Amino acid sequence: MSDKLNYGEIYAPIYEEYTALQGKVAEVDETVDFLERYCSGGSALELGIGDGRVAVPLSKRGVKVEGIDNSCSMLKLLAKRTDLIKAWQGDIAHFRSEQRYRMVYCVYSTFTLLFTREAQIACLRSAMDALDDDGVLVIELGVPGCYPSVGGQKTTTARLVDYENTILNVAVHDPLNQNLVSTLLWFSGTSVRRLPQRVRYVYHQELDTMAECVGLELAERWGDWARSAFTERSESHVSVYRRSSP
Ligand SMILES: C[S@@+](CC[C@H](N)C(=O)[O-])C[C@H]1O[C@@H](n2cnc3c(N)ncnc32)[C@H](O)[C@@H]1O
Repeated sequence: MSDKLNYGEIYAPIYEEYTALQGKVAEVDETVDFLERYCSGGSALELGIGDGRVAVPLSKRGVKVEGIDNSCSMLKLLAKRTDLIKAWQGDIAHFRSEQRYRMVYCVYSTFTLLFTREAQIACLRSAMDALDDDGVLVIELGVPGCYPSVGGQKTTTARLVDYENTILNVAVHDPLNQNLVSTLLWFSGTSVRRLPQRVRYVYHQELDTMAECVGLELAERWGDWARSAFTERSESHVSVYRRSSP
């Protein structure tokens, strides 16, 4: 993929500041509490490990964590934080690992950055192959909003407004491909940053169907890392898959 739409290359320079503003740094203890209990002595692989926001604190709990990311800049941020995590550059849609993991996980809607159905299914298949017999795949995804049904229509949402920052997301909807091509506009002081990205949104039931196609079945679904129930009001979900029973 060209660097023009490589999420990691675009976000790396502002990632720490951005995730802190979005509350993603504050919630990390809860995320790690959730993930740690599935590792029970085994190791974990993070898909789209980024700067190690989750992987670093998880490894501090004693879990051996490894990771994949396709962005050199993100991997450099991770390397600056720790040398305890083995991470390599690769595509989370198509990877093979000699090792088997007790948990493979993909958080913060990273899965939707795979913007074709084929890439998403390939990712689930690669993840399934990397699990040990009792292993689980954990995926955190936002619940898609209600997008306009007509192609090309635009939506604008305010992501954050405070005294110093205004963050808007302007998206064009491509309903045929379930894609949102968007630009985040981050105004702060006298600067404006433009952060483009493309995602393929997925509802939870489609995720289950794709997982079933590769031999996984849903074991648990929660509305957040604190294990709240997943309801019609949930804005995200954390879904846990195991190998399908024979
Ligand atoms: C939303 S960030 C999440 C980073 C980290 N997991 C976290 O929770 O803070 C998505 C990460 O996935 C990486 N990524 C996006 N598409 C990828 C792909 N096809 N293969 C590997 N990594 C990818 C990006 O470089 C970025 O580091």
